[in-house]
Amino acid sequence: MKIYLIGYMGSGKSTLGRSLAEVLGISWIDLDTEIESRYKISIPDFFRKYGEKEFRNVEHKVLNDISSVPDIVVSTGGGVPCFNNNMELMNRSGVTIYLSATPALILTRIGPYAWKRPLFQQMDGADILEKITAHLKSREMFYQQAQIIIDATNPDIEELKKLILTNPNSING
Ligand code: S3P
Repeated sequence: MKIYLIGYMGSGKSTLGRSLAEVLGISWIDLDTEIESRYKISIPDFFRKYGEKEFRNVEHKVLNDISSVPDIVVSTGGGVPCFNNNMELMNRSGVTIYLSATPALILTRIGPYAWKRPLFQQMDGADILEKITAHLKSREMFYQQAQIIIDATNPDIEELKKLILTNPNSING
């Protein structure tokens, strides 16, 4: 079974992914961490050096490689569903779960560390909230293509496990 966790930055994809993999007894991978280790560069440095377009190409390549690995939970980067037909690739090869979060929740989660994020360089709190709200709105049409949608506030892992096991796509991959 292959599980893809999708959602905006700060929605908790990595934390939930790690716990979910443990509960399901399969391995876990964080796509950004995989990119950083394969290309030996941090994500912010990658953006600075090669730009977003090249990052999206690399992101797609690594996702495509991982899509043939069986029995894995994949925590994806926030932009993954919105580029290069990645949503279609993920829906075809596994179960997609959208962790839906409000802009306010996202801001509280990423606020103090926003400077680390390539998309929020040189912005302060009010600018960031405005950017998150507009950005999330434009991404929602991709995120909504997920097979399972859950509230990111306080995900119930056992409940999620049931939803996954009854999803027809859980036998794929
Ligand atoms: C991005 C999200 C980040 C990372 C990159 C771009 C985005 O991942 O891939 O900074 O476009 O939303 P996280 O969602 O894991 O923070």
